[in-house]
Amino acid sequence: MSNQNNITSVLRETRVFHPSADFSHKAHVGSFAEYKRLWESAREDIEGFWAEQAKSLAWFKTWHTTLEWKAPHAKWFDGGLINASYNCLDRHLNNGLNNKAALIWEGEPGDTRTLTYQMLHREVCKFANALKLLGINKGDRITIYMPLVPELVIAMLACARIGAVHSVVFGGFSAEAVADRNNDAKSRLVITADGGWRRGKTVPLKANVDQAVEKSPTIEKVVVLKRTGQAIDMHPGRDLWWHELISGVGSECPAEALDSEHPLFILYTSGSTGKPKGIYHTTGGYLLGAAYTHKLVFDIRPDDVYWCTADAGWITGHTYLVYGPLANATTIVMYEGAPNHPAEDRFWEIIAKYGVTVFYTAPTAIRAFMKWGDQFPKRHDLTSLRLLGSVGEPINPEAWMWYQEVIGGGRCPIVDTWWQTETGSIMIAPLPGAVPTKPGSATFPLPGIVAEIVDKEGKEVGANEGGFLVIKKPWPSMLRTLYGDDERYQKTYWENTPGSYFTADGARRDEEGYIWIMGRVDDVLNVSGHRLSTMEVESALAQHHYVAEAAVVGKPDEIKGEGIACFVTLKSGIAATDSLKAELRDFVSKSIGALARPDEIRFTEGLPKTRSGKIMRRLLRDIASGRQTSGDTTTLEDYSVLANLRSDEE
Ligand code: WTA
Repeated sequence: MSNQNNITSVLRETRVFHPSADFSHKAHVGSFAEYKRLWESAREDIEGFWAEQAKSLAWFKTWHTTLEWKAPHAKWFDGGLINASYNCLDRHLNNGLNNKAALIWEGEPGDTRTLTYQMLHREVCKFANALKLLGINKGDRITIYMPLVPELVIAMLACARIGAVHSVVFGGFSAEAVADRNNDAKSRLVITADGGWRRGKTVPLKANVDQAVEKSPTIEKVVVLKRTGQAIDMHPGRDLWWHELISGVGSECPAEALDSEHPLFILYTSGSTGKPKGIYHTTGGYLLGAAYTHKLVFDIRPDDVYWCTADAGWITGHTYLVYGPLANATTIVMYEGAPNHPAEDRFWEIIAKYGVTVFYTAPTAIRAFMKWGDQFPKRHDLTSLRLLGSVGEPINPEAWMWYQEVIGGGRCPIVDTWWQTETGSIMIAPLPGAVPTKPGSATFPLPGIVAEIVDKEGKEVGANEGGFLVIKKPWPSMLRTLYGDDERYQKTYWENTPGSYFTADGARRDEEGYIWIMGRVDDVLNVSGHRLSTMEVESALAQHHYVAEAAVVGKPDEIKGEGIACFVTLKSGIAATDSLKAELRDFVSKSIGALARPDEIRFTEGLPKTRSGKIMRRLLRDIASGRQTSGDTTTLEDYSVLANLRSDEE
């Protein structure tokens, strides 16, 4: 934790937006009083509340214990038997929704496919049978590294169907990152594609997998979907084409009845150190969190056409592209490619074409749309929209207002949803028919969630005082541990503020109780809504043979929220040139993925450190953002280093 002592909040926003009477009237929760009542009654009996909610899922066997809490380890719905794939598919077929569209998919080149619930069920069953043919068993880990195509969803649900544990790795990550994740999870199988489309070009997914698998001794087979048709190497005996694998397999595959606490997936995310954390989620509780929040926060109705723009490689894709909406039998729009291909109006074209009613995206995208200009959304009829959502980072009021006016036509409530990979589902967000919104505030915790803002001692802070956001009570979709590292789990989340879950976000509540998220208080960056640790980038840089030492900090970026600034000292005799800067940027991008490409590299003679040798990141942040150096420098070991860094800039 770096910013411990200086969480100050400067943002003050006074505009308030009420949902229309019509919206509230039709909503699942239609007034603030009703929200309050729900929240209070849930807090009085957390277990009873969640047990009641859990009845909305289909269980093969009812649980005997709603919550077993041996802090910090939770078991939810112990004794219950359930299957996530069954809840997302079979249940709806039994309810007569066979021919309802489940996925409306559009590829970047413009090809489209629609899968009804029945068709999706069939494909999932076939692929699940194929996995069984490959000898995949309940509990085996499987890496999925694919473009955003229907087969990605099919692969996830097929794993869930047989109790295999998926670890989806975002297609923008490098071979190196895939290998790390394969090895940490000890995956047996990689599911990939020849490539995927991104901004008119193909992404070499299979070539990356080939490199990764060389360093992943636990991988036995690679299943390859033909997507782009680009030339790839197929390794005989190891690599199998998806279409060949499923040809001739049966289309019936009963869903396994799994323990509620059976793992559903591992998803790697950045923490404060260089090594990504395998966030470990289980079945019953996670699915409940996903379905419950999706229904309430997006106020989902049977005729909605719902579009979450996140890639399934991130938690938002897991929970609000796949599990939440499918569990609620929602029609989902899914788009493979970039928002500006072939032109900057692609998203708006898709909304108009399919009549999207609920749209969920990230502030970084909204800021890019603003920059591209109003003429692009104005070209299309967006009147089908009735609700807008935002996720991934604090949304600045200016972007919120633009979203509200230009995309929502002033008529759509905005749900600013705060949550994390670890929380599994949304924790803080307005219920759109009930809670008046303020631009930039995620407003209030959902019923069932007890969130507080506390100081270092764990004491609740007063109105408008900054503090740490914590969650006081266990909730069903919480992470259970970090895969293979329970000690780190305990240390990261449960020791900073004993007795409650530590989110590592700073926040404040205003005089009306609205929560305003102020951003991370650890060394995690939020670049375009994607989490990256400064240490990951530092250790990538340190692997370059010219680099002696590197320190990485975030700096404000108009579009991305945060950019990556690197301070690098070179080994003696190495010249600090612009071409070396370019080489280092490429080097990081290759070793982690394009999302980690540094925005700025500065060479320096030395790094400012405390007497005990800790890099003083606060000073570097000030320098990177062009602020005057603030705060206490009395522990700084070598003042001249700081002076050099500053003069370099002037
Ligand atoms: C940040 C993404 C402000 C926060 C779902 C959190 C947000 C981290 C919001 C988790 C929001 C996410 N307002 N900040 N609405 N949503 N964050 O794990 O810092 O990729 O801790 O999960 O994103 O990022 P993650």
